[in-house]
Amino acid sequence: MHKFIKIILFVPVIGLTAFLITGIINICQKKTIYPVINSQVNSSFAKVSTILQNKCADCHGQNMANYPFYFKLPIASTIIKKDIEHAQDIFLLTKEKLEGSEHFTHLQLVDLKGVAQRDSMPPFKYKVLHWNAFLSNLDRKTIIDWIDNQKINNEFIAITQNNQSNPDKISLGKDLFFDQRLSANDTISCASCHSLTTGGVDNAKYSTGINGQLGSINAPTVFNAAFNFAQFWDGRAANLKDQANGPVNNPKEMGSNWKEVIAKLVKDKTYTGNFAKIYNSPISSNNITDAIASYEETLITPNSKFDQFLNGNKSALNNEELAGYNLFVSEGCSACHNGINLGSNSYQKMGRNHNYFKWRGNITANDFGRYNVTKAEKDKFWFKVPTLRNIELTYPYFHDGSIQSLGQAVKLMAKFELGKELNNQQVNLIVQFLKTLTGQYHNVSLTNKHPS
Ligand code: HEC
Ligand code: HEC
Ligand code: HEC
Repeated sequence: MHKFIKIILFVPVIGLTAFLITGIINICQKKTIYPVINSQVNSSFAKVSTILQNKCADCHGQNMANYPFYFKLPIASTIIKKDIEHAQDIFLLTKEKLEGSEHFTHLQLVDLKGVAQRDSMPPFKYKVLHWNAFLSNLDRKTIIDWIDNQKINNEFIAITQNNQSNPDKISLGKDLFFDQRLSANDTISCASCHSLTTGGVDNAKYSTGINGQLGSINAPTVFNAAFNFAQFWDGRAANLKDQANGPVNNPKEMGSNWKEVIAKLVKDKTYTGNFAKIYNSPISSNNITDAIASYEETLITPNSKFDQFLNGNKSALNNEELAGYNLFVSEGCSACHNGINLGSNSYQKMGRNHNYFKWRGNITANDFGRYNVTKAEKDKFWFKVPTLRNIELTYPYFHDGSIQSLGQAVKLMAKFELGKELNNQQVNLIVQFLKTLTGQYHNVSLTNKHPS
């Protein structure tokens, strides 16, 4: 036989042998390393833990990697190392989780259920050499049944009206929020981009700043920003006071600086009087931002239909809204959009299950999100999960303002964050629910009536 043909025939034989050997070695080596605490009481979890330890921990277990020989081949090892780091960034099985002393987070449960439903692990490229890691139908049922029996508590919190402790300071902050002198040529105020009559946003893809300059990221709402765990899409400001430093100095927004702004404000007797009275000190960037933040703390929108529902009025949601709410929870949206703001309490990767940016195209630095703050590769494309309160009013959606319709945003979220295809009816019901998140400001329901 020709030498070349021999080699060609030889390759699949080696491949097949390697495939069988790895599988057999893996199966023989398997044992449950971490016994489940109280496994009698916890018998359904004990079964799940055994499955995870035997079939998933090679890649997802912390310090549990038990790599077969091909992981050590030169080129493969670099690729695999990266994949495993990535796998552990998204889904880490710690000793505490596996022995049951620490609960799985809601998001982990949603992910795990998704994987069991789609039968999508191990990843395609590892399927051949990791045939022993496949979930059997019984494994999948065991995992899904266990997850469905988990109780997830206290996901949502209603807004309660806060006591306005310092009315003078709030009123000063309000004056500043609407004052165009905070911009270089007296044309732009905070309210130019965060109008309270349009849901606290400008309803534009990108905002227009000083001299008609277009920004490059969508403006989030100032309503309920007080509840955000950090400010800006990438969380670069820790709180509202820090945040208020940003726009004044941003050349594309207000294009000014504190020295310039203060020089203008000290000429205004009302301001000098008020600052002296409230802060007992001259006007400074420190007290300007403090006053603005105090005002923003009052921009909260309680008493939405959903708040009424959370406060015990079970008829506050109609049947469709209720069905949408149930889908929102059961499909896994609330794994990220939870808490008082239905979001704004964690960073998450945009495009966890599919590559959103490849789908959309034209990646810019703004798409790097949290990475721009930390410079850590693993933070690329991670964003602060935005609030869904008043979401009906705050279109267009996403940090890139690329999506006009709420239904489309919901559909894309399901696909890119959860790996799910929702049908039109499901999307419609979730949208009905999201509309119940529109709240009241000063006892009047918010709208987004644009001045005509
Ligand atoms: C050979 C390595 C490997 C094995 C074995 C493996 N995974 Fe993964 N897993 C990965 C990698 C790589 C990713 C990230 C990339 C991706 O999603 O394809 C990932 C992602 C995930 C995710 C998050 C993404 C998603 O689709 O929700 C979950 C959950 C997950 N794996 C669960 C499991 C479970 C459960 C098992 C055991 C049945 C398992 N994995 C076995 C490598 C592995
Ligand atoms: C030219 C338009 C523009 C002006 C003027 C402006 N903002 Fe913004 N604002 C934005 C944009 C765009 C973002 C998002 C930027 C980012 O995340 O990188 C933002 C973000 C914010 C956030 C963070 C919200 C969140 O959910 O992260 C707050 C709070 C805020 N602005 C308040 C203010 C205040 C207070 C002023 C006045 C001092 C102001 N803005 C002036 C456009 C503007
Ligand atoms: C893994 C976390 C995660 C899950 C699960 C998730 N989201 Fe999101 N959601 C995000 C992040 C992060 C963003 C911001 C993405 C961006 O701007 O690029 C976002 C943005 C949104 C927006 C746009 C908000 C705005 O102000 O622009 C809507 C609407 C939304 N999500 C609804 C949903 C719904 C409905 C579901 C369930 C089908 C869902 N999300 C599931 C993390 C998540």
